[in-house]
Amino acid sequence: MPSDPIQTAALAVERYGNHLSSLLAILRQLQQSHHYVPRPAMEKVAERLAVPLAEVEAVTEFYSFLHSFPQGRYEIYFSNCIIDDLQGRETLQRRLCERLKMAVGTTRADGLVSVAETSCTGLCDQGPAILVNGHAIGSLTGEKIDRIADLIEQQICVEDWPAKWFRIEDRFERRDLLLTAAWQSGKALKSALRRGPEYVLEALSDSGLRGRGGAGFPTAKKWRFCREAAGEHYIVCNADEGEPGTFKDRVLLRHHADQLLEGMTLAAFVTDARRGFIYLRAEYAFLRAELEAAMRQRRRQGLLGRNICGLMDFHFDIEIVMGAGAYICGEESALLDSIEGRRGQPRNRPPYPVTAGLWGQPTVVNNVESFIAASLIVLNGGAWFAGVGTEKSKGTKLLSIGGDCRWPGIYEVPFGMTVTEIMILCGAGETLGVQVGGPSGTFIGPGEYDRRIAFEDLGTGGSFMVFGKERDMLEIVRNFTDFFAHESCGFCTPCRVGTSILVHLLDKLRNGWGTAGDILELERLGRVVRQGSHCGLGHTAANPLLDTLERFPDRYQAPLQEIDFSPGFDLDGELETARRLTDRFSAADHLTQE
Ligand SMILES: Cc1cc2nc3c(=O)[nH]c(=O)nc-3n(C[C@H](O)[C@H](O)[C@H](O)COP(=O)(O)O)c2cc1C
Ligand code: SF4
Repeated sequence: MPSDPIQTAALAVERYGNHLSSLLAILRQLQQSHHYVPRPAMEKVAERLAVPLAEVEAVTEFYSFLHSFPQGRYEIYFSNCIIDDLQGRETLQRRLCERLKMAVGTTRADGLVSVAETSCTGLCDQGPAILVNGHAIGSLTGEKIDRIADLIEQQICVEDWPAKWFRIEDRFERRDLLLTAAWQSGKALKSALRRGPEYVLEALSDSGLRGRGGAGFPTAKKWRFCREAAGEHYIVCNADEGEPGTFKDRVLLRHHADQLLEGMTLAAFVTDARRGFIYLRAEYAFLRAELEAAMRQRRRQGLLGRNICGLMDFHFDIEIVMGAGAYICGEESALLDSIEGRRGQPRNRPPYPVTAGLWGQPTVVNNVESFIAASLIVLNGGAWFAGVGTEKSKGTKLLSIGGDCRWPGIYEVPFGMTVTEIMILCGAGETLGVQVGGPSGTFIGPGEYDRRIAFEDLGTGGSFMVFGKERDMLEIVRNFTDFFAHESCGFCTPCRVGTSILVHLLDKLRNGWGTAGDILELERLGRVVRQGSHCGLGHTAANPLLDTLERFPDRYQAPLQEIDFSPGFDLDGELETARRLTDRFSAADHLTQE
C-alpha cells in the first residue's frame, strides 16, 4: 500500500467497491496501512462513496480498532477480560510498558508503539493474551513480554516474530452429539434438495433446535418466517463472539467450517437466498484464511456458488465481513448495520431481521453453533437431536470453560447437566462462584450448583467462568460492569451514563470510601439501567452487580466505613503533594474527613 493516505483510500475504494457497505473494509485497510485513518483519507472516502464526511468520521470513532489519530507502528492491545486479569494481565502489561518506557493508553513519542487495553479477545483458555497489529498471541509470560519489547525496539516485522507464538491451541475436553457425528461434505444438502424445503423445516422443528447465540429463538421458526417474507433474502452467520469468556465459535469456525457453510447453504435453500455473510470479529482475523479456503473447496465441489449441486436455479455464495472491535455488533440488528457500513447500533424492533434485515430485506441471522447443529440435524433427522437434553432445551451445548479450573477448554454437554457435574469435569476446586453465560448471564454461588444448563434454568451462549474461593467478588463485578460501560453504543442514557456511574460507585466501594447509601444507590441504579435501556446490552449490564448484591451482600458490606456519607475521594490524601512542597508535616496540616 502507498504511503500517501489519499492514494491508499483510492486503492481501497477500488478494491472493496464504492458503496457504503465497503466502508468498514476500507477504513480497516487505512488503519492497517497508516496505523490510523488520516483525515484527508476520510475526505477521499466520503467523496468516492458519496456519503457525508461526518458519517465516515462517526464510523471511525465507533469501532475500537479504528482511530482518527496516529497509533504506533506496533499497535498492542491487552485483553482485559477478567480471566486474563486473573492470569496476571496487569503485571505483564506494566512490565511491557516499563520495558518500552511508556504508559498504557498512549502512543510512544517516537511513534513506534502504542499499548492499550481491549475487551475479551476470545483466548480465555490460553490467556493472558494480546493482539499485535491484529495478530493474536496467547499464553503470555514475563519472558515472552521481554522478547516482545526487544523485537519492537529492534523494529522486527510482526510477521517475522516466532511463528509458534501465533499458534492458537484448541482443546476439546468433552465431545458429544455434534462433535462426534459423522460428516460428509454436501450429504445433508443433497438430502435436502431431494426432499425439499419443508423437510428441512420439519426436521429442524422436530429437533427442537433453539438458537445457540444466547436468546434461544427456535431456528425452524426463524427460517420459516424468513422464507414466508417477501423480498430478496439474506443469510448471516453471527461470528462476532464478543461475550467475555466465550471462545467456542472460534474453535468451531476452525474445526467445523464445512458444517457451518453447509448449514448456511441449507438456510439459503429454504429461504431462496443468494447471498450470505459471515460477520467475523476482528480478533479472529487469524481464522479468515482457513474459512476462505473452506469456501473455495466447497465452490470446487459445486456446493457453493453458481448452480449448486448442478441445479440451474440454485445460486448462493458467502462473503466474510470483518468487524473492527465492537461487542455491540454481536447484537443482530447492530450487526446488520455494521455489514451495511454504518455504526453498529441496535435497531428498533419490531420489525425483526426475518422480515426487515439487511438493506430492509428478510434475513436469517444465526449463531455459528446453530448453523452447524442445523446441518447435522438435516443429515441425521430431528429425533436424533431431540433425544438428548431436557423438555425445553434439546440437544447439547458447547461451553467455553475458563478461569480457576484444571482443564479449561471446550466442553460439549447435554442440556440439563448440572453445574456440579460440569465443575467435576473441568477440575474446579473450591469456588467463590461461577458466571454462566458471560457478564450478561448469571452469577451463582456454591449453594446453587445443582442448577442445570438449560434455557429453562441457566441459559448461556457458551461462556462458563469459574472463580476460585480466594477471588475478589468486587473486582469481578467491577471488571464486568466496566466492560459494559466501555461497550455501550451510547445511544440511550440509562446504559451510556448509568453503567459509568455504576463503575464509579464500585470503585468508591473498593477504595474504602463507600457508604451504606452507595450500596442502595448501586441497586437502584442497576435496576434503572436494566429497565430503561433500549437493547439487550443495557438490559443485562447490571446483571453481575444485581446477582451478587442479592447472593453476597456481605461482600458489599465488608469494605464500608461506619459513617453514613463519604465523599468519593481521599481529601487529606489529595493534599499530600502540597504538604511535601511546603514541607509542612505537623498534625494541624492534616484534614480529618467526617
Ligand atoms: C449485546 C449483544 C451481543 C450479542 N452477541 C452475540 C454474538 O457474539 N454471537 C451470537 O451468535 N449472538 C449474539 N447475540 C445474540 C444475537 O443478537 C442473536 O440473537 C443471535 O445471533 C441469533 O442467532 P441464534 O438464533 O442462532 O442464537 C448478542 C446479543 C446482544 C444483545
Ligand atoms: S442499551 Fe446500551 S448498547 Fe443498547 S442501544 Fe442503549 S446505549 Fe446502545
